[in-house]
Amino acid sequence: MKARILVCGGAGYIGSHMVRQLLANDYDVVVYDNLSQGNAEAVGDVPLIRGDLLDREALAALFAGHEFDAVYHFAALIAVGESVTAPDLYYRNNVTGTLNLLDAMRVAGVDRFVFSSTAAIFGNPQTELISEDHPKAPLNPYGRSKLMIEQVLEDYGHAFGIRSVCFRYFNAAGAHPSGDIGEAHDPETHLVPNVLLAALGERDGLEIFGDDYDTRDGTCIRDYIHIDDIASAHLKALGYMDAHPGAHVFNLGNGNGFSNKEVLDAAARVIGKNREIPYRIGPRRAGDAAVLVADSSHAREALGWAPATPDIEDIIETAWNWHRAPKYGPFAK
Ligand code: UFG
Repeated sequence: MKARILVCGGAGYIGSHMVRQLLANDYDVVVYDNLSQGNAEAVGDVPLIRGDLLDREALAALFAGHEFDAVYHFAALIAVGESVTAPDLYYRNNVTGTLNLLDAMRVAGVDRFVFSSTAAIFGNPQTELISEDHPKAPLNPYGRSKLMIEQVLEDYGHAFGIRSVCFRYFNAAGAHPSGDIGEAHDPETHLVPNVLLAALGERDGLEIFGDDYDTRDGTCIRDYIHIDDIASAHLKALGYMDAHPGAHVFNLGNGNGFSNKEVLDAAARVIGKNREIPYRIGPRRAGDAAVLVADSSHAREALGWAPATPDIEDIIETAWNWHRAPKYGPFAK
């Protein structure tokens, strides 16, 4: 029988790419999403149940009405800056919401859980490459809310037999090669889409937040990973949980860092025709670490995972394919 997967947040950027990959691998999928950030158009041809993780009755009805073998949880607030000014929103949505989801799973006897965590749990790195056991010192409530759930999952593994995998994403980027789904945040705060929106004239140029960091060109360095490579790791988590009880964590990145200026240059090469992307240097953004690059060897070895699209230009190419003609979201054509 096909495994049945609940995807919470399946209308969002990462969740919608996960749904496509689950369908391509013959899983049965139901999406639960409050559409506060996501887009119904992104879900495709699977049942979309509109509901909130803070609505315990709706969650109980969801699990009473369906049988699930595993839950993927992508439904969270993700804006680091907003989490500093409105921590209540972040702790309520990201922590209380996840506890509600885990409660509903336990009542229904569902014991497999895959969780979206983040490189933001590490804070400023003490080593060049960040491995799973690097000290955790989140710089903001967003990162703390994710770390709290990692700790909850460890305890729930011991106490309740919940099997879980947490993936700490570094910088998710790119879009599905079909051009049907892609990144459509509102407001958009991420570098790659903002570079492309600047190239398209949808932004008054790109603002690079600081060029006085201790890096090769003074701008921050990040590890960009294609969205479908994130999804393919999640797919492998199902088999991994079958063989490994308890709570597990994996860092997901390519292990290559690109500075903000290097991303801008790579985008200019992808767009071609010697296109100049207008930019200016602004002040540093609060909460930014200078360098964040993943050591993903644990995911490669334990999951047998390898990124299919590790090249920064290839990643940006898929994002450009989407941003030129987004099918939904604030810049839909
Ligand atoms: N940046 C700019 N201009 C922009 C947008 C971003 O210069 O318009 C810079 C940022 O200051 C940073 C880099 O580009 O130096 C990357 O910024 P993003 O906002 O794209 O990504 P972050 O690295 O801040 O955040 C991402 C995820 C978070 C997660 C974090 C963990 O979006 O959810 O990685 O590392 F917490």
